[in-house]
Amino acid sequence: MSPIRPAILALEQNGIGAVAALGLGDPDLLPLWFGESDLVTPDFIRDAAKRALDDGHTFYSGPRGILPLREAISAFHKRTVGVAVDVRRISLPGAATLAVVTALQCLIETGDNIVIVSPIWPSIFQAAAAVGAEVRFARLEEDWNAAPARWHLDLEKMFALCDARTKAIFVCSPGNPTGWVMTRDEQQAVLDFARRRDIAIISDEVYGTLVFDGSAHAPSFLQIAQDDDNLFVINSFSKPWAMTGWRIGWLVHPLSLDRQMGVITIANNTGPTSFAQYGALAALSPQGDEFRGIMLERCRSGRDVVQNFLDAQNRMRWMRPEGAFYGFLRIDGMTNSLGFAEDLVRKARVGVAPGSAFGPPEDTETDRYIRICFAQDTALLAEGLSRIERALAAW
Ligand SMILES: Cc1ncc(COP(=O)(O)O)c(C=O)c1O
Repeated sequence: MSPIRPAILALEQNGIGAVAALGLGDPDLLPLWFGESDLVTPDFIRDAAKRALDDGHTFYSGPRGILPLREAISAFHKRTVGVAVDVRRISLPGAATLAVVTALQCLIETGDNIVIVSPIWPSIFQAAAAVGAEVRFARLEEDWNAAPARWHLDLEKMFALCDARTKAIFVCSPGNPTGWVMTRDEQQAVLDFARRRDIAIISDEVYGTLVFDGSAHAPSFLQIAQDDDNLFVINSFSKPWAMTGWRIGWLVHPLSLDRQMGVITIANNTGPTSFAQYGALAALSPQGDEFRGIMLERCRSGRDVVQNFLDAQNRMRWMRPEGAFYGFLRIDGMTNSLGFAEDLVRKARVGVAPGSAFGPPEDTETDRYIRICFAQDTALLAEGLSRIERALAAW
């Protein structure tokens, strides 16, 4: 008998990786498939990390991140959501992906379940499955008749998925891939329910500042929760500051985990990369706030390019994203998103993520979508969209 856990053997390569494997490295391919903009990390952040290297910050730096960075993160929350988060609740285990894994490790025993609002970035439900959770999907519903068309979360249906073995509800808002933003009232209802049922909330807010309604941040669970609520908030330097390759993010956790978080982060990673933390510190400076503004404008222009493109044709539509930087495009007459995305790589030289990656196989509706990242140069984006349109005509 193999000692390998069945939950690990059951994991499959997600569809984004499968499509990328076909085209990575092709210089003529337009990459819209991953969750990153085409901008290189700004130089003031790179310079700060280079200086840190030259100053000898090449040693272990402590399990939860250097104190000045944790304090700067606390100040960032104060600036963006108006809440002074106690530094004892802030830990940097490594990248946000590892923050998700850490939160899951704190909550899940084999056989427990987690309810995840979908469509959702596949690493989330794969990480949950890997720690031994049964994953239950609370799928957002399409409301095409609303003006404008919008995603809708049926809270009662989501609550009905929870039982005595439910340890966590996972919500990502603004959403990847949908751009859906959860309202304050919805958050309050989820928090009330979770408190009553002793269920934790994992709130993925890595796109929190990338919102298009003019506010500094999408509604955050931090604004309504107490220090000792079972709330885990995931955040990352990757998206607003174009730092995906740096692998650095953070976790806000219940105050009661102050001590244990040091223990678990040592066990997982000894701590985050030392010199990357100095780059992250620079990202939280006023110059970093200015760069976030530039990134948001890039996203806004990208969203406009996609909207204009959609207005001019009749086979693709979207629920216009309220935040994040993805277009989740529904294509009439296309029911095999992986096959279509593979075809786009081979014949049209454009990389997109297949909708099927963002939910379980039985969610056939999601298979009618593709996801593109629009945080790109507008000319490149427009060229990518017209390649998709041409390929669709022949599909
Ligand atoms: C919803 C969501 N959470 C977390 C992450 C991971 O961020 P990081 O690059 O810091 O691991 C991503 C990256 O795509 C994401 O889309």
